[in-house]
Amino acid sequence: MINYSIIQLYNGTINNTTILKFIIMIIDLRSDTVTKPTPEMLDAMFKAKVGDDIYDEDPTVNELQTKIAKLFNKDASLFVPSGTMANQISIKIHTQPGDEVICDKTAHIYNFEGGGLSFNSGISARLINGNFGKIKAEDVLENINPKNIHSANSSIVSLENTSNKGGGSCYDISEIEKINKVCKENNLKLHLDGARLFNAIAVKKYTTIDIGNLFDSVSICLSKGLGTPVGSVIIGNSEFIDKAKRYRKLFGGAMRQAGYLAAAGIYALDNHVERLKKDHENAQEIVNILKRLNYIEEIYPVETNIIIFKLKLDVKDSYFVNKLSEKGIKVSAFGPQLIRMVTHLDFHSKMLNKLEEELKNIA
Ligand SMILES: Cc1ncc(COP(=O)(O)O)c(C=O)c1O
Repeated sequence: MINYSIIQLYNGTINNTTILKFIIMIIDLRSDTVTKPTPEMLDAMFKAKVGDDIYDEDPTVNELQTKIAKLFNKDASLFVPSGTMANQISIKIHTQPGDEVICDKTAHIYNFEGGGLSFNSGISARLINGNFGKIKAEDVLENINPKNIHSANSSIVSLENTSNKGGGSCYDISEIEKINKVCKENNLKLHLDGARLFNAIAVKKYTTIDIGNLFDSVSICLSKGLGTPVGSVIIGNSEFIDKAKRYRKLFGGAMRQAGYLAAAGIYALDNHVERLKKDHENAQEIVNILKRLNYIEEIYPVETNIIIFKLKLDVKDSYFVNKLSEKGIKVSAFGPQLIRMVTHLDFHSKMLNKLEEELKNIA
């Protein structure tokens, strides 16, 4: 049943903890970032041709960047270490200190990037009370500041698709088109935090090219649903990517033989995009389990791989998280009485029975 590769034993990804996980079946639903590379992905990484990427000499990084740019029909793309860096570099390029970004109140760029908007770019955020993380074109229009000496300069709109805090919700292309139109008419840049864009594409009827055409910049994470150990990509026109390269260096994110990591990205794009549907199916199975439990107050609509639900007051969130943890099931507390579970490559449908059993035993 356990099929470890030589590479995994060699590089230590198989260790006592991994073996223990198999024996007692640890179920980690805290995030889709917790996955370990598969043996096949490790094999691709192991075989990667590499060079010094700061000299542009890493063939595998170059291959990944060309592949992504083509996929989105944009001039170029840039491999960076994290989604946070991808967003922060993009926003830095599109803005000047004293500017303002329009985004949803739940946006990752505002809530979870360490105050980077002010720290890195010296800008403020106009937060929109959107619908499960999604804003509308009319919200954008209503929140553009007048051009005068008193107001921050509205210069950029940032969307998140799927929305993390919004429970994995996805934009319809028609709304993005309307927002794009408002941005064009008002001289605003449009950025996409597409950390989980491929999850949205798996359920909506649009393509990477549609997305490339509608945004000035896109960041995508390879290390979430796609299952690589490290890495994100920024996509844009040549001038933008030239600047991004400078900021990546300045932010300390330029790497040397990064091709080992880029190889994981190439492997993931070729092999892990289609399978995201499986994560979405597993998420629906979890929703079905949650619906049968009488201590759940509310479940957010689930479109992709993120499940957010609210516990009734008689089951305290910390008690719920700790009790499950004792049974080898890890979930995230996500706000008062709110719990988040995220399905991913290392969550298998055979884990559903144990999950249901332990959830039933909570109260
Ligand atoms: C929507 C969204 N954007 C950006 C990020 C940042 O990615 P990273 O953890 O690689 O910095 C995350 C991480 O969870 C995310 O959920």
